[in-house]
Parts: sequence; C-alpha cells; structure tokens
Amino acid sequence: MSLAGKVAVVTGSTRGIGRAIAEALVMEEISVVISSRHQPDVDKAVKSLSQRGRGKVAGIACDVREYEQVKELMEFAVTAFGGLDILVNNAGTAFMREVADLTPREWREVIDTNLTGVFYGCREAIPKMRSRGGGYIINIGSLAGVNAHPTMAAYNASKFGLLGFSEALFQEVRYDGIRVSHIMPGSVETGFRGVGEKKVGWAILPEDIAEMVVSLLKSNPRTMTSRIEMRPSQPKKR
Ligand SMILES: NC(=O)c1ccc[n+]([C@@H]2O[C@H](COP(=O)([O-])OP(=O)(O)OC[C@H]3O[C@@H](n4cnc5c(N)ncnc54)[C@H](OP(=O)(O)O)[C@@H]3O)[C@@H](O)[C@H]2O)c1
Repeated sequence: MSLAGKVAVVTGSTRGIGRAIAEALVMEEISVVISSRHQPDVDKAVKSLSQRGRGKVAGIACDVREYEQVKELMEFAVTAFGGLDILVNNAGTAFMREVADLTPREWREVIDTNLTGVFYGCREAIPKMRSRGGGYIINIGSLAGVNAHPTMAAYNASKFGLLGFSEALFQEVRYDGIRVSHIMPGSVETGFRGVGEKKVGWAILPEDIAEMVVSLLKSNPRTMTSRIEMRPSQPKKR
C-alpha cells in the first residue's frame, strides 16, 4: 500500500525514536511535520530530512504540555500540507528518582508530556482526520506501561495511563476509519533521559521502531493492531 502524499505529524522528532520515525515516513513520500520544544533543532532536522527523503518536510516548535501550541502544530500541518492523516505521539521524558526525592515539578513534567500531551494531540487531530474520512494515530508507550520498577513511578504512571488512553481511544474512533496503535518498546538506544544514556549494544535501535510504524501504516485497513510489545532479542544477562 502506498503512503505517498499522506500528511503526518510526529511529536518530539528532532532526535531519537521520533527522528527515526520522521525519516522513515519521509522515505515513504509522506509529507512530515517535525516538532520539538526547540526551533533551532526543528530547523536543523527539517533541513537534513529534506535532503534525505522524497516526501516534503516542514517544522514548528511545540511543547506538547501546552494546549495552544499543540493546536497550532496540528493547524500548521493543515496549512503546510492541506490536511492531517497520521499522528505519531512520540514526545516523552522521564526522571529516574524515588518518589520521596521526585519534585512536584518533575512529576508534572513527566505526566504532562507523556500523557496529557497525547490527549491534546488526539483532541486536535481527530476532527481533522474525520474530515479526511479516516487516519492513523500511533502512540509510543513503553514496556514501562505494563511493568513497574522502583525509581520509575512517574514514568510508569504516565505510560500505564497512556496504554489505557490508547485502548479507550481506539474504541471511540474505529468507526470513523481512524486506527490507533500503541507501541511499547523496551530499551532503545537513544539519549533518553536516564534510560538510554549508555550505548549498550544489545538494545533496540530507533530504526526498528520506525520500521514497525511504517508496517502498521501499510497494513490492511480491515485490521487494527492495537498493542505492540517490542523487546531486545538478547538483553544483557542479569
Ligand atoms: N529510549 C528508550 O529506551 C525508550 C523505551 C521505551 C519507550 N520510549 C519512549 O519513546 C519516546 C521517544 O524517546 P527517545 O528515546 O527517542 O527520547 P529522546 O531521544 O530523548 O527524544 C525525545 C524527543 O522528544 C522531544 N521532547 C521532549 N519533551 C518534549 C515536550 N514537552 N514537547 C515536545 N517535544 C518534547 C525532544 O526534544 P526537546 O527536548 O528539544 O523538546 C526529543 O525530540 C518517548 O515517549 C519515550 O518514553 C523510549
């Protein structure tokens, strides 16, 4: 199935998993909107992906914790490329600290980015997808959305919550032709705060997640893959 000409927004796409997803989508001739909180990083990614791929690329800074900025991001996609077909909610953050040491500001940053930001994105994207007759929302969760660990309470809470959000959402929008998939990776080799700082060699690569995203988008619309767990095949033995 060709994805050429579709329009996608990928949040947090200046580095790591989001960047790999954006690049894979551009290679499929999708028009991609890049975003993160920092405009210079967005500009750099837009420039570099425009040279690499075959799809069009544009970008705008957006902090997914801010509703007005998320609204502007979705409207930017429509202005730049004429509509919105695909939303990848990827932006995420973490603080690895015990609850007694975690500050209220850090708690809010994690929940607002990983959970509330996804709600904002979906709330703005769904009417735009409905007006196109359908679409695809892919939420990047985590295996930390099903497995709890000490020092990860805020991150666990955000990703457990996101799983519930995704599964309620797919039931709401399925008859509008909008599919929702929730990808739950284990360790991925990125600079993700506290998790992927070391290049460990055995972890999933961002490109593997991007390949999964493309394969979901190309899958037959009669089927919706709701939950995907992705693990390193051979994690370091404990
Ligand atoms: N790496 C792993 O091991 C792993 C495993 C499972 C799941 N995940 C999930 O995968 C997603 C991406 O992680 P990653 O490893 O690629 O992280 P990363 O390398 O740190 O990249 C995160 C991206 O999100 C952006 N971002 C952070 N806070 C934002 C905000 N408030 N608003 C908008 N953009 C924001 C960052 O740019 P700025 O900071 O410039 O805004 C950056 O572009 C996250 O949802 C994470 O929970 C990661």
